[in-house]
Parts: sequence; C-alpha cells; structure tokens
Amino acid sequence: MNNENNKMQNMLWLDIAECKRSNILISGTNSQGKSLCAMAICDKLMKHGFQVYAIDSTGIWKRKSSIPRYYQVSEKTMKYVLPNSSMIYDVSRLTASYQREFLENILGEIWLRRLDNYNKWLMIAIEEAHLLMRNIRGRASENLLRIASVGRNINIRVLGISPSFVGLDAEFRRLAQQRYHFKLPNESNTKRRFCSIYSKDWYRVAKELDVGFCIYYNNERMKIVKIPYFQTSKVAQAYIEPQPKQEPTLWQKVKVALSGSEEPEFDDIDSESEIEIDESEEYPEEW
Ligand SMILES: Nc1ncnc2c1ncn2[C@@H]1O[C@H](COP(=O)(O)OP(=O)(O)OP(=O)(O)O)[C@@H](O)[C@H]1O
Ligand SMILES: [Mg+2]
Repeated sequence: MNNENNKMQNMLWLDIAECKRSNILISGTNSQGKSLCAMAICDKLMKHGFQVYAIDSTGIWKRKSSIPRYYQVSEKTMKYVLPNSSMIYDVSRLTASYQREFLENILGEIWLRRLDNYNKWLMIAIEEAHLLMRNIRGRASENLLRIASVGRNINIRVLGISPSFVGLDAEFRRLAQQRYHFKLPNESNTKRRFCSIYSKDWYRVAKELDVGFCIYYNNERMKIVKIPYFQTSKVAQAYIEPQPKQEPTLWQKVKVALSGSEEPEFDDIDSESEIEIDESEEYPEEW
C-alpha cells in the first residue's frame, strides 16, 4: 500500500490521449514550479514519441530541460530551422515584439510543412505565454490561433506556461482541456475569474498551494496533485546548421583512392535520442 502511495506521489499526471486532443495550460504565480512541470511534461511526451519545440523566452530550458538541442535566435537574423527532432528556440535575447513576430513566422512555416507530412506528434511549448498569447484572436496571432484550434488535424498541439491566469486569452484556456493551476496570486481579477470558472472552494485551495503542488484539471475533473521535481543530467547542445555538402577536391579524391577509405560519417542530427517508456509512469485509470 505504501509502495502504491509512493508510486502515485512520484507520478506525473498527464493524459497522453488528451495531449493529442486538446492543448495544455500551466499557470500560477512566480517560483511555484511551472517551468519544471512543463519540462517534465515535455520529457514524458518525448518518451512517448512526440517531437517538442520549446519557445523559451526565459533562457533556462537549455540548462534544465531534457530537450537535446537549442537554437539561439538573434534579433539580427530572426532565422529559424525546423529539424525533425526536438528543439529549444531560445528567444530570451529578443524583445517581446520580436518574440511575437518570430513565433508567428515559425508557426506559419510549421503549418505549411505539416500539410504535406504530419506523421509525428508535435508539441509546441511556449514559456511566459502571457507575453505572446494575451490576445490570440487578432491578425498578429493568426497562425497561433489556427494551430491551437485545428492543429490537431495535422498532429500539432500547444502547451502554454504563464504566471498570469488572466493575462492569457480566454480562448486558449477553452482550447486547453488539461490544465495545471499552481498557487494563485492574491489579486482581485484573478480571484473573480478563477471563482467564476471553477468555484470559490477551488479558489481557496489554489491560494494555499505549496511549491510543486497544483490543481490538475482534465476535462472538468479536478484534483490536487504533487508534481515530481524534474531534473535532467542532459545538457542541451547548440544546434549547428548542416553545411551543404561540398564536392571533394581532386586531391581528396586521390587520397581516398590511394587509402581506400570511405568518407567520414556524420551523426544524423535529426535522429531522436533513444526512447524508453517507463510503464510505471502510465496515466492512472483511477482518480
Ligand atoms: N515539483 C517541485 N517540487 C518541489 N520544488 C519544486 C518543484 N518544482 C519547482 N520547485 C522549486 O521551485 C523553484 C522554481 O521552479 P520553476 O522555475 O519551475 O518555477 P516557475 O513557476 O516557473 O517560476 P517563474 O514564474 O519565476 O518562471 C525551483 O527552483 C525549485 O526549487
Ligand atoms: Mg518559469
């Protein structure tokens, strides 16, 4: 029985089937464990064969998440690459308006590519989402709204992480049927909104949550859960764009012919690291 309890306590509540149906929202006041929770979710999704793109405006994902590569986006180039493996787009050096522009551009490109080929599930995690998703119904967020609403048809879903419960477009909350609400700020707008969506009782609970605890909402069912503390030993490597293959010079051809050696082999930058699913971490049937 004790073992069973420990197992439940060390389990991350995440409904993989629901991850493919709707989006995910993580909210709560500062330093409560939102980012680590999002990283734990992404880690588990990768183990279930998802590809993850994390749009990170904080700069911490490359140190704390288990996503193996990061791409440092700079204001000068605003360039993006779309590998077939998981990637952190570190936009922490961009101002919020450039971040918004970058997000829209990359989502537009992802959408177009996915129309042709969308076998693998893709989760797009957006840090500090209130900076980018305050209003997703305007022209400046057309790609974001499109992906959050109908991205399911081409296997794309969105995970939004925000310290502000009211700072996110309510449309996104409606499109997110899995939610993790960490401790709420003591603020009147938040109180009013939270009470009207859930109830006064749940607001009282949300106000008193300890670090690492949250209210887990899944399709109108709610419970208090402890999120296991997420740590990884992996350090993300900077993504290096593959260089176009150059024709060997005459001298190189002669050398190869004389030594009989083959061309050196390169790592396949797009192959995912080995995936292992820990069955003990499966989503529990019982609530
Ligand atoms: N599941 C957890 N269990 C226990 N402690 C945790 C847990 N998650 C986070 N913490 C503690 O809280 C700290 C902050 O975590 P994290 O950066 O994920 O919070 P955050 O809500 O994203 O904060 P911010 O709003 O500043 O981005 C961690 O450094 C850790 O000490
Ligand atoms: Mg955070």
